[in-house]
Amino acid sequence: ISTKPLIVGNWKMNGLRSATGELHKLINGLGEQGSPSAEVMICPPLTLVMAFSHIASESELQIGAQDCHTEISGAYTGDVSAEMLADAGASAVILGHSERRSYHGERDRDVRDKARAAYRAGLQAIICVGETEGQRRLGLTFDVLRRQLHGSVPASATRRNTIVAYEPVWAIGTGKTPTREEIGEAHNFIAQELGSVLGGEASAGFRILYGGSVTPDNAAMVLSAMDVHGALVGGASLKADSLLAIASAQ
Ligand code: G3H
Repeated sequence: ISTKPLIVGNWKMNGLRSATGELHKLINGLGEQGSPSAEVMICPPLTLVMAFSHIASESELQIGAQDCHTEISGAYTGDVSAEMLADAGASAVILGHSERRSYHGERDRDVRDKARAAYRAGLQAIICVGETEGQRRLGLTFDVLRRQLHGSVPASATRRNTIVAYEPVWAIGTGKTPTREEIGEAHNFIAQELGSVLGGEASAGFRILYGGSVTPDNAAMVLSAMDVHGALVGGASLKADSLLAIASAQ
């Protein structure tokens, strides 16, 4: 596992084929950096996964997806399996994003089953956890993180097949971010709690990304917080220039 920070761009439901220009800009920008200071992954909408994987295949850029089903195949109209994503060229899949949890009713056990499906297909699972604003106000942040980690992270998770993303729901797309200390506290808690989910040795060295209103302006602050190993970036990942600026901020 690389010790460089990992910057993952989650394009959410944004991007048509015309966005391929941004992908080329990103790949060229990373190429110009020679040995880039961060690893970079883009998770485009499903319709672009195969084309982006093809374009990025000769580059350092990794391609991921945003969700998968728990089963390999079957009568699940509209769904896509982890095996299909791997077949399309993805190397990772975001699971349990708060938008999936709230708009699609995904529960911790669904996220855990999807992660197991991802492992079977050879994909890395990027498992998202995070509290709402109300939960933070009530002092429940760590309780929520503990419950989500115990429920969503499979016992077979390893630092190679799993990345955890801490995304406070109230920071997503709002321009609000926790302080450096708050980010560090939450990440340190997640690192400790993974020990109780997986056992001491198995939990060592997990990468934990921060997500929620990361921009070129605050990226250095975010990446310097305790136990932060990268960022999961939404809005600011849509433009190659801003993602490159985040990837080189340290
Ligand atoms: O997956 C990405 C996050 O939801 C963050 O989105 O950077 O637009 O706040 P944002």
